[in-house]
Amino acid sequence: MTARIIDGKSLAAGVRKDVAEGVAALVAGGVAAPELAVVLIGDDPASHVYVANKVKQTEAVGMRSRRFQLDAGTTEAALLDLIEGLNRDAAVSGILVQFPLPPHIDTARVVTTIHPDKDVDGFNPLNVGRIAAGMQGALVPCTPLGVMRLIKSVHDDIAGLGALVVGASNVVGRPMARLLLQELCTVSIAHVRTTDLERRCREADILVVATGVPGLIRGHFIKRGATVIDVGITRIKSGAGADKLVGDVAFDEAIEVAGAITPVPGGVGPMTIACLLANTLSAAQMEAARSKAAEVDVTAA
Ligand code: GUN
Repeated sequence: MTARIIDGKSLAAGVRKDVAEGVAALVAGGVAAPELAVVLIGDDPASHVYVANKVKQTEAVGMRSRRFQLDAGTTEAALLDLIEGLNRDAAVSGILVQFPLPPHIDTARVVTTIHPDKDVDGFNPLNVGRIAAGMQGALVPCTPLGVMRLIKSVHDDIAGLGALVVGASNVVGRPMARLLLQELCTVSIAHVRTTDLERRCREADILVVATGVPGLIRGHFIKRGATVIDVGITRIKSGAGADKLVGDVAFDEAIEVAGAITPVPGGVGPMTIACLLANTLSAAQMEAARSKAAEVDVTAA
């Protein structure tokens, strides 16, 4: 059997098209185009590439972007001041502070300072709690949100399926597990101290891998017919040739066993930015609905 390849590029293009239509509808209704503020601290080359892509794609769907480039020595207090100003700025729909942050800045303080209504990364504890409790109105972290869309492109209904998430990070693994649980999968999380990873993987109908360990998941770990989502992306130097991007799953082996699988690159990566755009639109739509409700309240009073 050869697995079906889940084409993240074309699914992401569909999400961007929907977002562009949503933006146009907001603007036609008299609301300003959503604006995404992106804050980058320091000069990590990979972060520069990600941020440039985020800004470019934001503008391509008709939203505005504002980019703040801060030097690596920026104090935590200065960063928090900037975020608080963006929280108060009615023109800003979403705020994203690119990670990783320099070690002198407390990441938890940063994510807690971003207003939950503008938290397009979904990292603020209020949004984390809303997702954990299955509440409406949460902004959901972009990568897990994208992964759910990839999974749903090959499954009409995942209720009752066994799902294993390999990796327990706050950015991917934990929110991923909560979303799968919300869809009534039977969910486990594996992490660095998990024993017998191979056996646990082989029990999973849906396997989501986000460890950053290239090739960790071999073909014989995979249940026949399973859906495999590879979130890992590691740049490997390949001698004189161009660098190669590789995932956490040994793709050439896995494709012989899985039912459906995401490639690296071209799987999860494109969906992550598309879902950031979708979150920025959602934040703007929810803000527009709150403003409208407040107007009605005033009129009724
Ligand atoms: N750095 C790597 N992934 C992410 C992400 O999803 N959000 C932010 N803010 N920074 C990142």
